[in-house]
Parts: sequence; structure tokens; C-alpha cells
Amino acid sequence: MTIFVTGGAGFIGANFIFYMLAAYPGCRIVCLDKLTYAGDLSTLEPVMNDADFRFVKTDICDRETVYELFAEEKPDIVVNFAAESHVDRSIDEPELFLRTNLLGTQVLMDACRRYGIRRYHQVSTDEVYGDLPLDRPDLFFTEESPIRTSSPYSASKAGADLMVMAYHRTYGLPVTISRCSNNYGPCQFPEKLIPLMITNALADKPLPVYGEGLNVRDWLYVEDHCRAIDLIIHKGRAGEIYNVGGNNERRNIDVVKLICRELGKPESLITYVEDRKGHDLRYAVDTTKIRTELGWLPETDFEEGIGKTIRWYLDNRCWWEAVISSDHINKNTAGL
Ligand code: NAD
Ligand code: DAU
Repeated sequence: MTIFVTGGAGFIGANFIFYMLAAYPGCRIVCLDKLTYAGDLSTLEPVMNDADFRFVKTDICDRETVYELFAEEKPDIVVNFAAESHVDRSIDEPELFLRTNLLGTQVLMDACRRYGIRRYHQVSTDEVYGDLPLDRPDLFFTEESPIRTSSPYSASKAGADLMVMAYHRTYGLPVTISRCSNNYGPCQFPEKLIPLMITNALADKPLPVYGEGLNVRDWLYVEDHCRAIDLIIHKGRAGEIYNVGGNNERRNIDVVKLICRELGKPESLITYVEDRKGHDLRYAVDTTKIRTELGWLPETDFEEGIGKTIRWYLDNRCWWEAVISSDHINKNTAGL
């Protein structure tokens, strides 16, 4: 069994590679990653010498190289994590998001059609459904909810989802899609809320909270997401979409205050800043389908997960200091 993992030098992809190599000894994993600012080879250092693992630096939009790799490795399964993933960056530079998230997905699926595949899995997001009002905690998005995106990021992910379903219907490609809520855990680039707050707090820097900090996100520990994807690629039905969520909704301000408490840092570090443009109010998904069909449930509660995450950032200061340095950003974008 050979699995292509695209975007595996990023946060969730790297955690998925660790999870799969541990869960399936003998399974070959080939990671395709462009190494943008968000991907770092040092993240994959624990598996670089594993005989079952191969890393290839490549852009998923590079059709020729992607086809060559498919011809050479003949993957059984492709799990596509590769994406521009940060909403704030999408507001500044939408075109890059369309290129990687939409056109890159198409190149991968064309390769799957050409060389044959058992399963193509698209790692999508709950953001494709848009947001819910703060005063209706009874509302949740199901897989049948309409696509109603807010940001260039979520629009690019929604476009990719539509293309994935089109390839299933038109060409019979055996696809699945997971739409997951906010992940947190080890190896997340410190631009997203939780790692940014942890690393800023450790450096006694201001903690920038958008607006009044009242927006709500549903947090899921990354390993639980990896387990959900494992179940979907092996037992999920082709042509189906599965919501994945933590059933763990928190206001941003409460998350930031919890991090301050856990680190013994004063709340005076919290700085309210201008709100994100088009800022989604609340995300919440109904996970009945994956629970009943595949028996998946989140296993890590938030207090345990945030504790493990903070411990990881305390123990891996070299990693995050290096990935946020401009040297790293220059190194990883040079020549691409
Ligand atoms: P990330 O930004 O940490 O990592 C993205 C990875 O993709 C990086 O290693 C980067 O180098 C690589 N990449 C970017 N463009 C590429 C290209 N053109 N070719 C090859 N590689 C490329 O992202 P993440 O948070 O790990 O998210 C992974 C996937 O999960 C994304 O598709 C994202 O939309 C989705 N998702 C993320 C979350 C979350 O909370 N982080 C939640 C739901 C879904
Ligand atoms: O819901 C899944 C999505 O979750 C994924 O598809 C995205 O890839 C991922 O980035 C994440 O999107 P969010 O926009 O929800 O995550 P982010 O960490 O950027 O922001 C979380 C919340 O915190 C959001 O309401 C904005 C707020 N925020 C964020 C940052 C970076 C702040 O208040 N201050 C900040 O500095």
C-alpha cells in the first residue's frame, strides 16, 4: 500500500504522516510538499530516515512532476492536505489561494484518473458552509447545508470541493471529502490563533485579539482529525462528504485567557485589534454521519489537548523560533 500525502510538511499533514507510519507498519508514505513558508522539513525530521517514508519537494500545480511521481510510485491512495490555509493571508493575496487550492487539486485528480487510484481524499474545511449567528447555539451545519463562503480562502476550498464531486460524478473517480473544524496541536505554524498566542505569550509579546474576541470556533485536537481521515479513506463511502468536529465550541477570548492562565502570563498582554474583514462569527458542524457510519468520536478533551500543545511548544522552542524567522521564509521560497 502506497499513500501520497500532499502538504505533509505542514501542520496536519505532518501529524497524519506520524500517525499513519505508527498505525500501519509497512505502509509506504510519499510526501509531496512545495515547502512554502508554512511547510518545514525539520517538522518531518523524526521520519526522514524511515525506510517506509519518502519526501519529494514539489508543487502540486506542477503537472509534469506530479504525473512522473504517480507513474513511478503508483499510489493506492492520495490524501490532499496541500493548501494555502490562512484566512488572513487569503484576504491579502487571493490568487495564490485559487492556484494551489483549486488548480492544484485538479492536477492531483487528473493524475488519479490517468494512473488509477483506489481513493482520492480531499481535506476540506467547515468554513465552506460559512458562519452561524452567535445567538443560535442550536444551529449546526450538516453535510447537506449549502456552500456559503465568506473569505477567499474558504471560497477556494469550496471550489475544490465542487471540483472533487464533479470528478466523482463525471469520471467516476473514487473520492471522499472531510470538512473539519479548527485543529490545534503540535507543529502548527504560529500564525494561527493557538500557536500564535502561546509563542507570543512565551515571549511576553502582545496577544492580538480581533474585534471583541467573541467569535466562536470548534476546536479539535489534530490527532483526532488524523484518526477521522484514516477511517474515511479505509471505510468511508466513495462520493461522500463527512463533517468532522470537536463538539468543543469556545469564544476566542476564552481560549486566549486559558492560554495565559496555563502559562502563568498576565491577561494584560491581551490587545484588542481591528477585526478581520468578513470575520465569520461561529462555526459548528453536526457530526452525526461520521459518528454513526464510521464510529468516530473525538477522544482528546480541550483541557488535555491544550496542555499537551503548550508542553510541545515549551519543549520545541528551536522549531518555532526557526520557522517564524525570516531566514526560514526566504529559504523556503527561494527558487520556486
Ligand atoms: P498548513 O498551512 O500548516 O500546511 C500546508 C502545507 O501545504 C505546507 O507544508 C505547505 O508547504 C504545503 N503547500 C502549500 N502549497 C503547496 C503547493 N502548491 N504544492 C505542494 N505543497 C503545498 O496547513 P494545515 O493547517 O496543516 O491544513 C492542511 C489542510 O487541512 C488544508 O487543506 C486546510 O485547508 C485543511 N484544514 C485545516 C484546518 C486547520 O484548523 N488548520 C481545519 C480544517 C481543514
Ligand atoms: O475551521 C477550520 C479552519 O480553521 C481551517 O480551514 C483554516 O485553515 C484554519 O486556519 C482555521 O481558520 P480560522 O480563521 O478559524 O483560524 P485562525 O487561527 O486564523 O483564527 C481563529 C479565530 O481567532 C478567528 O476567529 C480569528 C481569531 N484570531 C486569529 C488570529 C490569528 C484572533 O483573534 N487573533 C489572531 O491573531
